[in-house]
Amino acid sequence: MLGEIYEELGTENLIPVSKEEGEFISNFLKRNNIKKTLEVGFAYGCSAAAIISATQSRHYAIDPFQKRDFQNAGIKNMERLGFRRFLDFREEFSDTALPRMLMEGVRVDFAFIDGLHLFDSIFVDFYFIDMILEENGYVCFHDYWMPSTRAVISWIANNKKNYEIIDVSVGELIIVKKVRNEERRWDHFIPFNAGM
Ligand SMILES: C[S@@+](CC[C@H](N)C(=O)[O-])C[C@H]1O[C@@H](n2cnc3c(N)ncnc32)[C@H](O)[C@@H]1O
Repeated sequence: MLGEIYEELGTENLIPVSKEEGEFISNFLKRNNIKKTLEVGFAYGCSAAAIISATQSRHYAIDPFQKRDFQNAGIKNMERLGFRRFLDFREEFSDTALPRMLMEGVRVDFAFIDGLHLFDSIFVDFYFIDMILEENGYVCFHDYWMPSTRAVISWIANNKKNYEIIDVSVGELIIVKKVRNEERRWDHFIPFNAGM
């Protein structure tokens, strides 16, 4: 399934999740019987294909540059794979799409963050996803090698004690699990490793 897309893209293309990462995500969703999913950063639709192939259910994807930078390649891949009917695509920036989805009452059990890789963007993506994530839900981050991603994970590990960090050791993926809903005092703050 992902093979079809990679044949065209070529495996040297560094934008999408790798085949190994895609297969891991797909198996992870099947193993945990997850159906309600969302992603930030759609691009060619590789991560979306991995997710929808496992869930065969509605998948929200957010990306402002599908037309401008990808000439709708991701949407075309979804059509080719017969996945278009499952895709709820939001062509906008995640920092406006996510709060809107929160207001719409969207709830998910799995979110994949692979959009803008600035620290503040990843942090804001997680901030809103946390609010629409069900208890026992998962957030998977791509590009764990990046200092910006690592800083967000360190903030979660130190400050969000209702999350467990799951180091899956597959490519550049890292997963956090919301093991219970949050209880933090209004002034809670634990310093974290910002990579400085
Ligand atoms: C690394 S690519 C995503 C790859 C995709 N997950 C895959 O496996 O095929 C990053 C994507 O994030 C998108 N992006 C950039 N800024 C964004 C933003 N503010 N909100 C949402 N997506 C954004 C880019 O247009 C790009 O498609």
